[in-house]
Amino acid sequence: MPQRKKIVIIGAGNVGSSCALFAAQRQLGDVTLIDIVSGMPEGKALDMAEGAPLGLFDARLSGGDDMGAVAGADVVIVTAGLARKPGMSRTDLAKTNTGIVKGAVEKISRHAPGAFVIVVTNPLDVMTWVTKEVTGFARERVVGMAGALDAARFSAFVADALGVSVKDVHAMVLGGHGDTMVPLVRCASVAGIPITELLSAEKIDELVNRTRLAGGEIVKLLGTGSAYISPAQSAVMMAEGFLLDQGRVTGASAYLEGEYGFSGICLGVPVKISGKGVERIIEIGLSKEERKMLEISAAAVKKEIDEIRGEIG
Ligand code: LAC
Repeated sequence: MPQRKKIVIIGAGNVGSSCALFAAQRQLGDVTLIDIVSGMPEGKALDMAEGAPLGLFDARLSGGDDMGAVAGADVVIVTAGLARKPGMSRTDLAKTNTGIVKGAVEKISRHAPGAFVIVVTNPLDVMTWVTKEVTGFARERVVGMAGALDAARFSAFVADALGVSVKDVHAMVLGGHGDTMVPLVRCASVAGIPITELLSAEKIDELVNRTRLAGGEIVKLLGTGSAYISPAQSAVMMAEGFLLDQGRVTGASAYLEGEYGFSGICLGVPVKISGKGVERIIEIGLSKEERKMLEISAAAVKKEIDEIRGEIG
């Protein structure tokens, strides 16, 4: 009997519950939401399950506070942790979220040793690194969500500026998921046409800057937390790439072993996500300026990792 895939989401807050809904709506498998707050994950799962006859999706949804429910997961999406409040940088979160993520992912290595783990908790590259170190998983099995989100934001802004379909816009953003990220302007296109042919240099600069600060723009507007719909879409896209063995090519935070000249850190790079997980890290040539920006971004991520290195012991 073929069995449905099992998707476990750790953290049933805004990002986690949105991931659950998108994964269920796409019928990627059965979804379990886990959170330390008891009752709430069951309640959210039940709410979604009761909407399934209207949304017309077949997925069993469950929730609970027992981390043991991670057992047998094909995919685990890690969203547990505090979100940014106005005036807070992603780095401010590092220490607190290291403790939370460490506790959660230890359970993954014990109960779901074959899972593909997608990390969403901020600071993203640091938490991806923590997950890789604590689980001891092969680097193919651990990915951080950010590049897909940052590229989606850039693409959304380009589509809006040109009044074209988002379906025709593609972009690639490298580097850490923070203000030092590196949107690759020359790789952004509308149906293959470089955006430099379609938008002025000033307009492109404006869109690049908006992309860099896009997370903060939403934090400021919401007043009580950070973006969750688009981060959840990005995480579920990666889950789908793995579960359906799609070979999706996207920016993502991956553990580097010499690629782009960096080792022992997680950083946003182009990857291919297939049934093997992060099957390939794609290295592309960079201009001098892009290279410099990537180095600055990598140094910022490395510094953040060094700050919490002692916490994971
Ligand atoms: C953002 C947060 C989720 O970029 O990192 O919106």
